[in-house]
Amino acid sequence: MSVLVVDDLRTSLQINGGEYHAVREISFSIEEGETLAVVGESGCGKSMLAMSIMRLLPSVASITAGRILLDSLPIEAVSETGMERVRGAKIGMVFQEPMTALNPVLTVGEQISEPLRDHLGLSRREARKAAIGLMEKVRIPSAASRYSSYPHEFSGGMRQRVVIALAIACHPRLLIADEPTTALDVTVQRQILDLLDVLRTEGKMGMLLITHNLGIVAGHADRVAVMYGGDLVESATVTDLFRNPAHPYSRALLASLPRVDRDLSELASIPGRVPTLVNMPDGCRFMDRCPHAMEKCNSMPPPADVGDANLHMVRCWLYVQGGEHAA
Ligand SMILES: Nc1ncnc2c1ncn2[C@@H]1O[C@H](COP(=O)(O)OP(=O)(O)OP(=O)(O)O)[C@@H](O)[C@H]1O
Ligand SMILES: [Mg+2]
Repeated sequence: MSVLVVDDLRTSLQINGGEYHAVREISFSIEEGETLAVVGESGCGKSMLAMSIMRLLPSVASITAGRILLDSLPIEAVSETGMERVRGAKIGMVFQEPMTALNPVLTVGEQISEPLRDHLGLSRREARKAAIGLMEKVRIPSAASRYSSYPHEFSGGMRQRVVIALAIACHPRLLIADEPTTALDVTVQRQILDLLDVLRTEGKMGMLLITHNLGIVAGHADRVAVMYGGDLVESATVTDLFRNPAHPYSRALLASLPRVDRDLSELASIPGRVPTLVNMPDGCRFMDRCPHAMEKCNSMPPPADVGDANLHMVRCWLYVQGGEHAA
């Protein structure tokens, strides 16, 4: 059974009285125990997608079409209060900067205990014991004695472990990790990603892993979704995408493979940058930077349903019958 199904999702932003799509007609699913990596340059809509799933959008943004099913539950049917519960118990969240998820004036132990009491109904004593267990699980050394430490007494990597303990406290079905290791040094990055892999497998969780780093995709994801300008332009298994990238944007991203650990924002393989939402072309949003752009790309967005969303999907006129094949 799919842990998450996103079907034809559209998220719009109100900017100066106009309505702009930050996420346009996106469909994918994540199975139990599976990691889907979402990649794309800065401004491609990766975080908007994650915030849409969590229903934590900024006030100017709203979901305008499509469906999101979490463990078969349509989340649009869930009330705001219900959503707080869903976020606390069904979806675990890990972001780039752990301090934003932590309360500086509460001890880490108290913070991990809170969802255990609120969502699982544990007593104070039981929650303390379980929180220490979770701190051990995320390999925080001397967990029992560090229960009473404050976040500022921890290193960045240890803080991220606290956030992960919080995220998995109520056995969520889905983990959403938005650049969880970007702020950490390389050795700590690897440890955190390995830890997430172990926890995901043990807990049979699905994981949506947003990253700029193709090395992380290669090492930690099962499937990958490439986003550009709010569109899902290609999705495939990691092996398939790395061997046979179809979309010109994916090809350009992968052209930087020898430097796989460099951040996408530093890559010079694709001249230009992602247009801002108010300047998005009407047709294919990658058109301005695409070496294969045709007349058609200018007038109409490519259809979103080319190929099977769970196999190898590509959203590009080159692969629609009548289009000129890029290969
Ligand atoms: N609060 C907001 N108000 C207006 N526009 C916004 C807001 N948040 C995001 N956007 C716009 O929505 C688009 C998608 O942004 P998003 O943050 O999802 O990108 P991203 O892929 O996560 O980028 P990054 O890799 O830098 O985190 C961008 O054009 C961005 O400028
Ligand atoms: Mg982001």
